[in-house]
Amino acid sequence: MDIQAHRKDEHVIIAEKLYQESASNDLGEVQLLLDSLPELSLEEIDISTKLAGRDISAPFFINAMTGGSPETGKINRRLSKIAQVNNLALATGSQSVALHDKEAVHSFKVVRENDPTGFIIANLGASHGIEDALKAIEMTAAQALEIHLNPAQELVMPEGDREFYWLEQLTGLIRQGPVPVIIKEVGMGLSPKTLAKLQKIGVQYIDVAGYGGTNFIEIENERRHRKEYSFLKNVGLSTAKSLLAAQKFSNDFSITASGGIRTALDIVKCLALGADNVGISGFFLHTLIKQGDEGLDRTVKDLKKQIAKIMLLLGCKNIAELHEQKVILSAELQAFRNQL
Ligand code: FNR
Repeated sequence: MDIQAHRKDEHVIIAEKLYQESASNDLGEVQLLLDSLPELSLEEIDISTKLAGRDISAPFFINAMTGGSPETGKINRRLSKIAQVNNLALATGSQSVALHDKEAVHSFKVVRENDPTGFIIANLGASHGIEDALKAIEMTAAQALEIHLNPAQELVMPEGDREFYWLEQLTGLIRQGPVPVIIKEVGMGLSPKTLAKLQKIGVQYIDVAGYGGTNFIEIENERRHRKEYSFLKNVGLSTAKSLLAAQKFSNDFSITASGGIRTALDIVKCLALGADNVGISGFFLHTLIKQGDEGLDRTVKDLKKQIAKIMLLLGCKNIAELHEQKVILSAELQAFRNQL
């Protein structure tokens, strides 16, 4: 098996092994204010929103994880079935392996076979140009493309990239790409400095992919005997802090929140902090592994119902109203915001 394909198997195994040890995404530092006179019925609550310019019926989706090997192809098959049944968008993992390894292609194509009319999002790293992007999009007939920024992960990997001149290429992709492009991190968060650069080149869709869930510094460390990069594992910007940083750009970007999202309350807090939708990776993978397809299907259905109930408790009929909802930040988050 291709070394890159083997790495995909390891990422899944190690992400699951480290799942319980995730650090905080700081959403616990965000207090929602309930309205005990909501003057609403549960039926009226509309949880639909937009992702990369398309309408989606619930404010969360299955975010990028995997593909590239026979085992990860099986995971993509199972995830895409659940996406299809529940009308959820699904992003595949990075397709770069399938650009040079024909055997890997099927592990991605399977998501489109399972979900012929669903919302599929392609995924590549930022070192790829328009030709690769077109191939990745075509592979799954994707309606959007995620480009991940992962310099920290690359530097920790012995086989990773060492040169990071990505901006020009990204600008080209955004201008010429046939589908909307979402720029995302992979769990370190997008800082104000990065956000300003993305705004300058005309990016419209970002996924903060904050710290506090899956942590690729730890995953890559775990893959080797000498864990010499443990010192880097806490440098990311938490999901809550990344969202506060992104608030300054709310006129420029449509924001996806991700990083350690596990509950309906996490999702609603992200929306109240300005996100338009929420991506979930590690929690869905963990649920699939521990509770099987039925367990994940049940979890997705529960999340939709629970989100509507929390929105009712806040007196918010829809996500536009949730965006206007006042939230209270802990002293630490408030201090962070003041210093931005
Ligand atoms: C990921 N993630 C990821 N992101 C990406 O853009 N391309 C990729 O190939 C992968 N691969 C991948 C594998 C596995 C096993 C996991 C769990 C995650 C990162 C993912 O999309 C997300 O940004 C982070 O995982 C943070 O979200 P969670 O996992 O904390 O919900």
